[in-house]
Amino acid sequence: MVLLNGRAVSEFIDAIPLPAAVIGEDERILATNQAFDLLLGSGFVGRHYITALRQPSLIDAIEHVLANGGAMNATFLTRSNGADATYELHVAQAGSTVLITLADRTDAENAGRMRTDFIANVSHELRTPLTALIGFIETLRGAAREDPAARDRFLGIMEQEAGRMTRLVDELMTLSRLEENERRRPTDQVALSDVLRVVSQALLPIAQAADVDLTIDVPDLPVTVFGDAAQLQQVFTNLIENAIKYGAQGNKVVVTVAPHRLIKRLRAQGTTIMVQDFGDGIASHHITRLTERFYRVDSHRSRQVGGTGLGLAIVKHIVNRHRGRLAVTSELGAGTIVTVTLPKG
Ligand SMILES: Nc1ncnc2c1ncn2[C@@H]1O[C@H](COP(=O)(O)OP(=O)(O)OP(=O)(O)O)[C@@H](O)[C@H]1O
Ligand SMILES: [Mg+2]
Repeated sequence: MVLLNGRAVSEFIDAIPLPAAVIGEDERILATNQAFDLLLGSGFVGRHYITALRQPSLIDAIEHVLANGGAMNATFLTRSNGADATYELHVAQAGSTVLITLADRTDAENAGRMRTDFIANVSHELRTPLTALIGFIETLRGAAREDPAARDRFLGIMEQEAGRMTRLVDELMTLSRLEENERRRPTDQVALSDVLRVVSQALLPIAQAADVDLTIDVPDLPVTVFGDAAQLQQVFTNLIENAIKYGAQGNKVVVTVAPHRLIKRLRAQGTTIMVQDFGDGIASHHITRLTERFYRVDSHRSRQVGGTGLGLAIVKHIVNRHRGRLAVTSELGAGTIVTVTLPKG
């Protein structure tokens, strides 16, 4: 039998593109590779595996393979770069030694969790209006049958709830379409003043109803970008609608388009469009999460104004597709500024 010394084994497993370690016949760690040291720390070589690798799942698997040969998988949980990480551990007999490799499954795990969270959120969002609808149908069949005033009021609420469900389904469909074409950058030349004119006309009645003065300030020269006009309308509709809905206290929303100039972050010429309100503002710990699907700062308030928590997720996708940037700055009590940066068309 060829006996390998620790150094030779170490050179050998350094070629494996996964964290790997070898345990010798004496149950001591014979060698680890660099990826293993980075993940679990160095200094394991020469120690008994039980004292070195304290995780029970790991120790059980090694014990089993040492006793019975063959191979075994187990899940190994650790922290990597300050975040929880999930690894799939593979322990296999290799001659008289045991080879341990760890494959990072964190991304797959997170994607799986996101999918379940997403389904749970959608179901929850649909269930609330459905429960209301079913309740009102029962009432209309029973107690409110002969009461025209109550019937009208209930039908009004039912219409509103059905509207909320329609909006939710529409927004979900928009999101899934966006995911499909996010990699294809739009190629049409779009003038931002045209986009904002359409949006402001549509939102003026909402602004007036909320007692908000909506001002849109565009430069004299046309500012054009490579864009999808309908999608850009959607971006500014969502942002200005948010500013009106959540910033109404300030009674003023200002949209400003800057002329094209060199934008360092884009390393290209581009424009910035700012949507500013003077309302309550958003606490800083919420800001990084605003573009997550269904994330709402105050879900009660958002639902009251008919929000689904998908508006900014849609904005983010569209801005990405346009190779732009989205930034939110806010001060509690003073208001919020959302800035969209778009490269020149
Ligand atoms: N200008 C703003 N001022 C204060 N809070 C805001 C502002 N814009 C967004 N928010 C907060 O961010 C949350 C997420 O916004 P988003 O547009 O994604 O969802 P929504 O408005 O609740 O629903 P939807 O846009 O789908 O109707 C909102 O619920 C609100 O709490
Ligand atoms: Mg919104």
